[in-house]
Amino acid sequence: MKAVVITSFGDEKVLQVKERSLPDVQETEVLLEVKAAGVNRPDIFQRKGNYPAPDGVVQDIPGLEVAGIISSVGRKVTEWKEGDAVCCLVAGGGYASHIVVDQDMCLPVPEGLNLAEAAALPETVFTVWDNVFRRGALAAGETLLVYGGAGGIGSTAIQLAKAFGANVYTTVGSDQKEAFCKELGADAVANYKREDFSEVFRNKEINVVLDSIGGGYFEKNIELLSPDGRLIYINAVEGAHVKLNLMKLMRKRITVTGSTLRARDLAFKVQLAREIQTYVWPLIGTRFRPRIYKELPLADAPEAHRLMEGGEVMGKIVLIP
Ligand SMILES: NC(=O)c1ccc[n+]([C@@H]2O[C@H](COP(=O)([O-])OP(=O)(O)OC[C@H]3O[C@@H](n4cnc5c(N)ncnc54)[C@H](OP(=O)(O)O)[C@@H]3O)[C@@H](O)[C@H]2O)c1
Repeated sequence: MKAVVITSFGDEKVLQVKERSLPDVQETEVLLEVKAAGVNRPDIFQRKGNYPAPDGVVQDIPGLEVAGIISSVGRKVTEWKEGDAVCCLVAGGGYASHIVVDQDMCLPVPEGLNLAEAAALPETVFTVWDNVFRRGALAAGETLLVYGGAGGIGSTAIQLAKAFGANVYTTVGSDQKEAFCKELGADAVANYKREDFSEVFRNKEINVVLDSIGGGYFEKNIELLSPDGRLIYINAVEGAHVKLNLMKLMRKRITVTGSTLRARDLAFKVQLAREIQTYVWPLIGTRFRPRIYKELPLADAPEAHRLMEGGEVMGKIVLIP
């Protein structure tokens, strides 16, 4: 099979297509012919050597989500058969022509979506579902603040929060991204390069914050959150060490939490997959649709990373083997 391999840690040029042997299919696994693989920001951190794959997962092939056609099934696979079209969250190895996946991690390609769109779903939908809706318990009528609204996570969070009846505020770094987020349904958008977002959102009701920035945003989040607010971390690109005034936390009864999806075990991810199929899948195609910024051939993975690091991407990039 063909795979994009991280040949050493570094810039996007370290991503090179190599020939690899097909993985063995275990009893409860399926072999997927990958038709599309989603690109996510964590792939860039992995390429740079800052986000290793968990033990037991291929270390040098990035890629956290795929869609494709099942080409063979293990002896104990009951739910799927050869020829089925599925999309899957994977812990690595997605940038390849083939991948093996546990049968319980396969979700049907939602009606009305093509395989490129389906490949752009799992990583952000699982992350947003787990953090905004489970951990953050965002309810209809409440307000979510998510940073980077035009990104993969942001564009998913905006659409899903709106679909579940919440209000959404977000931040962006350009006018184009502002228009994109409004089109996705964001109720208010602050351009953090032009204005202080914490002034824009001051005195508004904010119940849940989804933050991947960290650093100085932490204290702003504590100021912005309403009583009983929930502050959820999924990364901390601007710094993981922060200062907390415990009195403010107590006065507002704020919950601070966070998570990383990739390291969670299979049983947890299977549970998320079942919930997502029940609650999110019926919305896809009507209330929520992944936005594809660009489809690129698998061999153009370096270009995909260059575009993402350049900061102009709105929605998702998908690689096509
Ligand atoms: N914990 C988990 O399980 C998990 C899972 C998936 C992703 N993540 C994390 O979630 C984040 C988003 O991932 P993604 O795939 O959606 O990436 P993405 O598509 O590149 O989106 C990130 C967005 O954040 C904005 N941004 C970047 N640096 C910023 C800064 N310093 N201040 C404010 N905004 C900034 C960018 O937009 P502007 O140009 O508008 O600034 C960009 O649109 C990443 O940090 C990733 O590691 C965590």
